Amino acid sequence: MGTDDPSGVTVLHGTPEMAPLSKVGGLADVTGSLPGALRRLGVDARVITPAWPGVAEKAGDLGARPLPGPEEVCVSLGGRRVCSRLRAVEVGGVPVYLLEEPDLFSNPAVYPENLDAGTALPFAFLSLAAVELALSGEWRPRVLHLHDWTTSLAAVALKYHRLYGASSVKPRTVLTIHNLAHQGVLPLSVLDDWGFGPGAFSLEGVEFYGRANLLKGGITSSDAIATVSPGYSREILTGEFSEGLEGVLRYRSDKVTGILNGLDTESWDPWRDPALPAHYRPSEMRGKKICRKALLDVCGWEGSPGPVIVSVGRLVRQKGMELVLGALDELADLGARLVVVGTGDRALEERFSAEARRKPGVLHFRGAFDDAFARLAYAGGDLFVMPSLFEPCGLSQMIAMRYGTVPVARAVGGLADTISDADAFPAGTGFLFEDPTPGALVEAVKRAMAHFREPRAWARLRGRCMEKDFSWAPSARAYRALYASLTDLS
Ligand code: GLC
Repeated sequence: MGTDDPSGVTVLHGTPEMAPLSKVGGLADVTGSLPGALRRLGVDARVITPAWPGVAEKAGDLGARPLPGPEEVCVSLGGRRVCSRLRAVEVGGVPVYLLEEPDLFSNPAVYPENLDAGTALPFAFLSLAAVELALSGEWRPRVLHLHDWTTSLAAVALKYHRLYGASSVKPRTVLTIHNLAHQGVLPLSVLDDWGFGPGAFSLEGVEFYGRANLLKGGITSSDAIATVSPGYSREILTGEFSEGLEGVLRYRSDKVTGILNGLDTESWDPWRDPALPAHYRPSEMRGKKICRKALLDVCGWEGSPGPVIVSVGRLVRQKGMELVLGALDELADLGARLVVVGTGDRALEERFSAEARRKPGVLHFRGAFDDAFARLAYAGGDLFVMPSLFEPCGLSQMIAMRYGTVPVARAVGGLADTISDADAFPAGTGFLFEDPTPGALVEAVKRAMAHFREPRAWARLRGRCMEKDFSWAPSARAYRALYASLTDLS
């Protein structure tokens, strides 16, 4: 594969998940979109990612074109040399190096339930394979772009690994933090097993309260750190959002910048979405009514004047769905109905199922991954609720806005960066609340309902949501500038 970047910026993204090949969470959407957006700007961006079960088949289904490239990558893990087959393919215009080693990348769920030296090995391998490729491949990127704890070790290796740390020419490193809640904490002994020298054990390295914290190592060792929204980059310097890492983050704060994620505006387009019964766009909104009716039909509901409030997302503590459970009766009294789509935490799934059985006329719960239904919910809803306790960026609120569904969200992280309150600003696009309580959520819904009752004002508010630009181009430009600043190519 030759270099086609006129500006000379070349970057290899290391990631455990990349849509549409593999996907657990929002990280996959980012690594599935950002490299392509960078390439459109002339950056030679490529990706290295594991072929978890099903990934190779998916690549085949997508018609991934084979590319020339190394067929194997071997890394030095302590005394051992461990190898994986490597296959270079082009997916959606982006060169992707697939690590095809079924014994190592055997977990279809990608992330292990319990992290230990054994279950962390695929991620250590992925990190070192990215380094190996960057240092000795035919194509040598100037920047290694890492994502979350799972590839943080690559930055640490370039400093402290017995073999890789000694290289004379090294790529610069960027670490994007998508979520500080996951840090990859392991016994310190893994470092020795994986070939790291004494520097890695230090305060400047991976050591954190007597354990190895891989994300902390990424934060101390990377040349630049990005978070997925400017708001989150400020919040993580405070105790409430830092997950214990505020000291390290403050120490590195001059390296931290916030770059808002974009959205794949082709896949998420109500004018073209094949999952919808009717299409619409700001100048032609009739289709949205048809989608709303179709959503009500699926839920077994008759039409009524109250708003349909929708939530689509993982059912995990972060997303604050406890608040929705706590607000349910009051929302019902206000005449609202709720459609909740999501899977995750068992206990939360069960509570939503039980509430849906108790109040079938008010709550429809879909506890399964159902892309077509999720899309119908985005399109058919009036309001979109996102009461996250914290939200590094968040994708669902952007999708909802693009589908003309007005967000009601907590004023945190990327939510506060992408939504402006319609009662505070004439050009507002939603309703924000501060306190993580059901009462604060209900108050925000009440404010939204006051607007909802005024059809003309509501149509304008919805139109403003739909016209917001969430494309990847601005983020890709910001990352390109960051790469250029690190490689003296600016
Ligand atoms: C994580 C964060 C989410 C963010 C996504 C992509 O899933 O929780 O807020 O949008 O990563 O960066």
